[in-house]
Amino acid sequence: MLSITFIAGARPNFMKIAPLIHAVRDQQEQGASLSYRLVHTGQHYDEKLSETFFRQLNIPQPDANLEVGSGSHAVQTASIMVKFEEELNTHHADVVVVVGDVNSTLACSIVAKKMHKQVVHVEAGIRSFDLTMPEEINRMVTDAIADHFFTTSDYANSNLQKAGVEKERIHFVGNTMIDTLLANQDRLRKPEVADELSLEEKGYLVLTLHRPANVDEQEKLAETLRAIVENVSGKPVIFPVHPRTAAVLKNIGQKYDNLHFVEPLGYLEFIYLIKNSFGVITDSGGIQEETTVLQVPCLTLRDNTERPETVEIGTNVLVGTSIPAIEKEVARLNAGEYKKGRIPELWDGQAAKRIISKLMDLYGGN
Ligand code: UD1
Repeated sequence: MLSITFIAGARPNFMKIAPLIHAVRDQQEQGASLSYRLVHTGQHYDEKLSETFFRQLNIPQPDANLEVGSGSHAVQTASIMVKFEEELNTHHADVVVVVGDVNSTLACSIVAKKMHKQVVHVEAGIRSFDLTMPEEINRMVTDAIADHFFTTSDYANSNLQKAGVEKERIHFVGNTMIDTLLANQDRLRKPEVADELSLEEKGYLVLTLHRPANVDEQEKLAETLRAIVENVSGKPVIFPVHPRTAAVLKNIGQKYDNLHFVEPLGYLEFIYLIKNSFGVITDSGGIQEETTVLQVPCLTLRDNTERPETVEIGTNVLVGTSIPAIEKEVARLNAGEYKKGRIPELWDGQAAKRIISKLMDLYGGN
């Protein structure tokens, strides 16, 4: 019997874990000799950032919740490590599967590897080469010790090869976040805000900002908001606000009639909102991928991206964070001048199936 432990910690992990769990369950139903445990570290714990996603994406209740909560990076990472070591001491695992690049990914990889478990990284190899981002450090450390690497792009494959990883350990399978996106197209739900504001299809923008570089400085955030809302000819801008951003916005206040702050949305509501918008402005990683597949224009307010295929192939434009650049690109988007994109190779909804079947080839369970 092959025992797999899956790690999920923060919001963007849940969309990547859901199809993996579903693929394991499919294999179990077909008689595979597989067992799994789902461990939630509790990095995200708010109903709106965690529980809602489990419910909407039909993820079973976690077998363990480490309930680590918030803290500085050191405190959060350390407390995940201490609690995950206890988890692995009490529950056997042959393979630990981590996804993405959050603190939970890093913490659990280190613990598992030191306990001589096989570590498998899903969404391996992507790089921004910007070490001011905690996620970049998390990716680099995880990829330095993982045994097998499941990748979303050629770009990720080549980053891993340049770092000395043998080809046999790199598996190009596609994108589990896109598995979830495609699997839920018929289940999308209109969010309340769409009716409250009588939003028209393709008549509004969606904004999300939560990276420290964009939101931690109050004046910078206020200027960024101004640069956006003053260049959309009064069209509504809907801003679902992450808790980190909410703390800063409290001091800035609401100064524009066409800017609407809303609570973080559920997955089905958020995808509905972006799918029907005329454009998205963001500093998220995953949203760059989702807009590419939905063929919705995306302006990314960062100086770099670990997902360059969304720019080269998809609908993403890397705008940077300077105010004149934001003004110019928002005005262009508002004028309807944007590129058409294509969908990257293997972003076809089948990545999780490929991953589980490869894990069974590698480690047994057939
Ligand atoms: C984390 C990830 C980031 C991901 C983001 C998505 C890391 C290093 N960062 O960033 O890659 O894009 O999640 O949301 O792992 N908070 C709550 N409720 C919660 C969780 C957090 O109010 O359920 C508050 C915390 O108190 C803290 C802030 O939000 O003030 C940031 O939370 P944290 O988990 O440290 O990082 P994120 O910014 O969410």
